[in-house]
Amino acid sequence: MEALTEPRHAVVGSEALAALQRPALEASTLPPECYRSEEAYLAEVERIFFKEWICVGRVEDMPQPGDFTSHTIVSEGVIVVRNGEGELRAHLNVCRHRGCELVNGNGSVKAFRCPYHGWMYGLNGELRGAPDFKETLHFDKAEYSLHPIRLEEWNGFVMVNLDDDAAPFHERVSHVTRWGLDKYGVDEQVTTHRWTYDLECNWKTYIENYIEEYHVPWVHSDTLQPLTPMKRHVEFPDLSDQQWDLVVAQSPGLTLSDDGDANFAVSERIQEISPEYLGLPIWMCYPSFGVIPMLDCTLYYSLLPLGPERTELKIGMLLPRDAAEAFAAGDEETCRIAGEYARNVEGFVVEDNAICVQQQRGLRSRKADTGRFCKHEGLAWKFDNWVARTAYAPAANGNGAGNGSVAGH
Ligand code: FES
Ligand SMILES: [Fe+2]
Repeated sequence: MEALTEPRHAVVGSEALAALQRPALEASTLPPECYRSEEAYLAEVERIFFKEWICVGRVEDMPQPGDFTSHTIVSEGVIVVRNGEGELRAHLNVCRHRGCELVNGNGSVKAFRCPYHGWMYGLNGELRGAPDFKETLHFDKAEYSLHPIRLEEWNGFVMVNLDDDAAPFHERVSHVTRWGLDKYGVDEQVTTHRWTYDLECNWKTYIENYIEEYHVPWVHSDTLQPLTPMKRHVEFPDLSDQQWDLVVAQSPGLTLSDDGDANFAVSERIQEISPEYLGLPIWMCYPSFGVIPMLDCTLYYSLLPLGPERTELKIGMLLPRDAAEAFAAGDEETCRIAGEYARNVEGFVVEDNAICVQQQRGLRSRKADTGRFCKHEGLAWKFDNWVARTAYAPAANGNGAGNGSVAGH
């Protein structure tokens, strides 16, 4: 992808970076400019969102050949389509004639026809027809296929990456088996509910909120705190050196029902999981993909920045396949229970959404300054350090994997 910008100097001054890099309980938070400035945003876009794996949905979003969904990663439109062989492919949503966006939204097609001059592309991106191009010299259709985009399926999630050289996603998250994500049957579950929010906050405020439990008694006093009190949350910062983190609300037997009972099939393999990881495992894969598997359902989160102070949040709720099929068929009891689960999701999601927007309003103040972290915010500190290492250094190289150092001015 073409560079949007190349910071010539550190986005954050060397003092602020050094303060962030101290051990969590001695560190200062990221400066407020990182949550509102165009410069920080462009550096994150260039070095994070154009380099990292982004979740754009689930395989069941495109069940049949020709089914497609379209997505926008900052400036880059991406089409995800199931081809004639039943495999998912991703293409840049840009016509090779004169650059028109090909499709908008989701749908089903036999081929993609550009609305501008009718160029036609097959599901694998190959150019099939270019009306009245016979007279055009040295024109070879084979050279004008849609640009392919990296795509991987992982536990039923569809991951894309705009960087042709990025390491495979499944390798970057292979350690998730250490806490048992592979034991919940997430790959066998199917989406029943989807939510999309356009939030007036920086994307990092939401990720920090997602990964710290410090706010639970205050923001979720009537929703999550009674079920998953802050004090039962345990952070696992050292489970892996891969780019993901886990915090577990250790209240075994969690689901989304009103009475706490699982109503749908529970994977038998959950018994193999060590008790310390049972309850509400809140997993977050950098930069912005989260999975929360529970006894008989799963929530997933995917966030994309829309600007320095605007974020698109997508959430999906998954149920075991049988339940999801009964839901799709309109089975009354299944729809009632699934509706109850979804209502409970909305209960705490709107609380998180509101507090992140409120935080952003405070961060706009000219006098807003760096703060500090407590023992319940260790993963937020870790995440902020990753962002600083990856995006803000003047000579960041690679995609921020490992423990690269941060240079100052
Ligand atoms: S821009 Fe697509 S056919 Fe002309
Ligand atoms: Fe929360």
